Amino acid sequence: MSNTILVGSQWGDEGKGKIIDVLTGGVDIVVRSQGGNNAGHTIVDGDKKYVLHLIPSGILRKGKLCVIGNGVVIDPVGLVSEIKGLAARGIKVNAKNLLISDCAHLVMPWHREIDGLREALKGKNKIGTTKRGIGPAYGDKVARTGLRVADLAKPAVFREKFALRLKENNALIRALGGKSLNGKKILADYLAAAKVLAPLVTNTVTLLHKAMQAKKEILFEGAQGTFLDIDHGTYPFVTSSNTTSGGACTGSGVAPNRIDRVVGVVKAYTTRVGEGPFPTEEEMIGDMLHGMGREFGATTGRARRCGWFDAVAARYATIVNGVDDLAITNLDGLDGLDEIKVCTGYRLDGKGPILDTPPTDAGELARCLPVYTSFPGWKSPTDKIRRYKDLPPKARRYAETLAKLTGARLSIVSTGPGRDQTIHL
Ligand code: GDP
Ligand code: IMO
Ligand code: MG
Repeated sequence: MSNTILVGSQWGDEGKGKIIDVLTGGVDIVVRSQGGNNAGHTIVDGDKKYVLHLIPSGILRKGKLCVIGNGVVIDPVGLVSEIKGLAARGIKVNAKNLLISDCAHLVMPWHREIDGLREALKGKNKIGTTKRGIGPAYGDKVARTGLRVADLAKPAVFREKFALRLKENNALIRALGGKSLNGKKILADYLAAAKVLAPLVTNTVTLLHKAMQAKKEILFEGAQGTFLDIDHGTYPFVTSSNTTSGGACTGSGVAPNRIDRVVGVVKAYTTRVGEGPFPTEEEMIGDMLHGMGREFGATTGRARRCGWFDAVAARYATIVNGVDDLAITNLDGLDGLDEIKVCTGYRLDGKGPILDTPPTDAGELARCLPVYTSFPGWKSPTDKIRRYKDLPPKARRYAETLAKLTGARLSIVSTGPGRDQTIHL
């Protein structure tokens, strides 16, 4: 039996969707436990490309069960549209391959509105959110004023709670300088979505427990990344959930002692979308990758900020998540470079002692200058290589160095977006 948590060890978009899709081959169930449709997980199957936001990336594989756990915030209208989008491409989604926790919280249109208004009010200090209403939805959850999937399943109860929530949130929207929302259309849209989703709703905690008793294997699909974690990330430039491995347990109701392994995914370089500190950011790498048509956000289309691999941050991610196995993606992105740098330490304001862990204060992290170690590039394409021993020796040395610096076992090297462009060690 092996239950695995997969997390992003950087700032999101590490290639989690691709690695989940690859690992799904060996498990029975794939679970999302946190985040919402702020996530964008890309899977490339032959000439077909899919971007999933709320539905676990296991959905593309026949005979696998996907679960959206209690820790996820669900925009039901968005979820129905994602289900319909898959159906239009020949992937049927029903209670045989997707179940949703009755305890998951709902993202409501006022959450999106408030998300946008708060960002506008912050001006240059904005977070750069995806404007999917994630922060306000989790805010309501913690304030105990949220609506849950179970409420949606009972139209009479939902109407009543909805009216109360609309009133309070419209007052907040007006206070933030926005215009009140019209509840009629929203209610109709949400009740219509409720009908589609009703057959999928269940107590996913008991379901997962029974599955484990029946020796089924579970893969937990992390969304976002370690440095976007509400507790451990570069606060306030973070998302509103626990994106680290602990979040997989609280967000699914599966106990920590049922977890066998944690896989951390990193890109061979670093990207970040949205605002906040990013010590190894480097325009040249962004220009190169954007020039190749890469590193545009899967959810918002924004150009991602790019930089060198940050081993200080990745090592911290190994500690916080308990990463056993490291999956390095996008190695091919560095194929053309003469020289590749890796950040092995920081210096505050470029002076003083070398720091080997990132300061927890975002302001201090923003003042950190990276200390680099240089590696010679391998300067040859890796995208067609399928065996580890066939990688150029300099590429192997680079991958092994990243694993050593982060303190995890090198387990997967990915050299392209496709399923087959994956090297298992
Ligand atoms: P996620 O949010 O962690 O699932 O990552 P995204 O899907 O947002 O972004 C990762 C991007 O990298 C997607 O476009 C993937 O198709 C792509 N990708 C993943 N692994 C590789 C790789 O090894 N090489 C290349 N060229 N692309 C990759
Ligand atoms: P996946 O799962 C990268 C970022 C946003 C913003 C911050 C807060 O595809 O890796 P939010 O809308 O969550 O309140 O935005 O978090 N962000 C992501 N960045 N990948 C993601 O998901 C992200 N989800 C949110 O850009 O900086
Ligand atoms: Mg993504």
